[in-house]
Amino acid sequence: NEENFKNVISHAKEYGFVFQSSEIYDGLSAVYDYGQLGAELKNNIKTYWWKAMVQLNENIVGIDSAIFMHPKIWKASGHVDGFNDPMIDNKDSKKRYRADQLLEDKIEAYKVAGDQQNAESLQADMDEALKAEDLPRLKALIEEHKIACPVSKTCNWTDVRQFNLMFATQFGAMAEGAEEVYLRPETAQGIFVNFLNVQKSGRMKIPFGIAQIGKAFRNEVIARQFIMRMREFEQMEMQFFVRPGSELEWYNKWKEIRLQWHLALGTDPKKYQFHDHAKLAHYANAAVDIEYEFPFGFKEVEGIHSRTDFDLSQHQEFSRKKMQYFDPEVNPETGKPYGNYVPYVIETSIGLDRFFLVTLVNAFEEEDLSTADKQDSRSVLRLHPALAPYKAAVLPLTKKDGLPEKAREIMDALKFDFNMAYDEKDAIGKRYRRQDAIGTPFCITIDYDTLEDNTVTIRHRDSMEQERVAIADLNRIIGDLVSW
Ligand code: GAP
Repeated sequence: NEENFKNVISHAKEYGFVFQSSEIYDGLSAVYDYGQLGAELKNNIKTYWWKAMVQLNENIVGIDSAIFMHPKIWKASGHVDGFNDPMIDNKDSKKRYRADQLLEDKIEAYKVAGDQQNAESLQADMDEALKAEDLPRLKALIEEHKIACPVSKTCNWTDVRQFNLMFATQFGAMAEGAEEVYLRPETAQGIFVNFLNVQKSGRMKIPFGIAQIGKAFRNEVIARQFIMRMREFEQMEMQFFVRPGSELEWYNKWKEIRLQWHLALGTDPKKYQFHDHAKLAHYANAAVDIEYEFPFGFKEVEGIHSRTDFDLSQHQEFSRKKMQYFDPEVNPETGKPYGNYVPYVIETSIGLDRFFLVTLVNAFEEEDLSTADKQDSRSVLRLHPALAPYKAAVLPLTKKDGLPEKAREIMDALKFDFNMAYDEKDAIGKRYRRQDAIGTPFCITIDYDTLEDNTVTIRHRDSMEQERVAIADLNRIIGDLVSW
């Protein structure tokens, strides 16, 4: 499994999906760049999310708020005081670790060694200490379980301290002595502070949602597992505003809707699970993670949180602006309108980069194609056509006799509707394999018959089967394939 994951990472680099950021300067830890195919895949995931959330739901609208926000917002949201990781340093090596991560690794090690008893008791002790934010207890657990530094093996631990995850920077135009501004650690606050702007200008009626896709920044201390934990990443978040008292009903609905979204484009349902939070964030009254089984274990990809009226109430208090909604509907119990209230919020929050990794891991296969007399294999990305960077590749069989010209004609007719690849280099078999490796769902081959009868061969990525179709049908065939 670990081996397979290494192959996914090198495949992602080799074919231009993901590069280490600033690579020629030896990279920047936990920061990545998306290459030419990664940018396409990422855009396709965004489109899939945006259409599923905004286009298909009349009561959800999308916004694009700024990354810079007033510093008071992060006071109000609780991030200045509460958005911390418990850290511990090794005094000898000066290396810094996340205390909860060290403990989790130890729990994993107990499990691998078959020591279920220690695994469970440490898990329970850690959960309790994290919940109570009992930092001395976290250190005691690290010592009791003789956790050594992952790198140096000799350990001289400091105390556990809280470390804020927000990046701060100076805002040029501000008066001297003004507060620092932060790079947003979540996109959600941009939605909360615009709640009334959108509600009023869009004449939205509760229940309604506001969706957003955008960058978020966290000074993660440990870089881990490729694009799983990054310092600069993207979130796709939706805040759904509901009547107080109806939040758990909506929470359960969104849990199911979101899981279906994950599964609808062919990810393996056996690899998904819900994980209820033992420790609730400062704003939540219920929370669950949608987890995917990566080669390194089940990990969170999306969170569904019932955030109560915490955020809007906090902004009401800090900004001294009313964050209320007037609900004209009649409450059957009182016979009167529900009237003014601060709405409750159900949030769905998915990491774009993490879902990108899900699609890569789920799609990647090194397929053995050996027969009795010949060894053979291929790398194939079985991406859903809606997500595939190229929807089809146009391949003239040879570089002469008018075949490239005919191929260009077909390319020109299709490229307004679909992102198409064109390739005339190398033997046809080699070109097929290259398209397999980048997930192109099918190849369109132009041969001598094409010049006679205006038909082409379509070769399917997954089955490797070929069929003959009319050029006039190509647009419809590709269109059917990429819809969901
Ligand atoms: N507004 C709620 C919120 O931000 P979160 O659980 O902290 O909740 C939501 O983050 C999602 O964002 C996670 O499920 C994960 O997919 C993604 N995410 C969080 N931190 C990340 C990081 N450092 N790198 C990549 N993705 C991250």
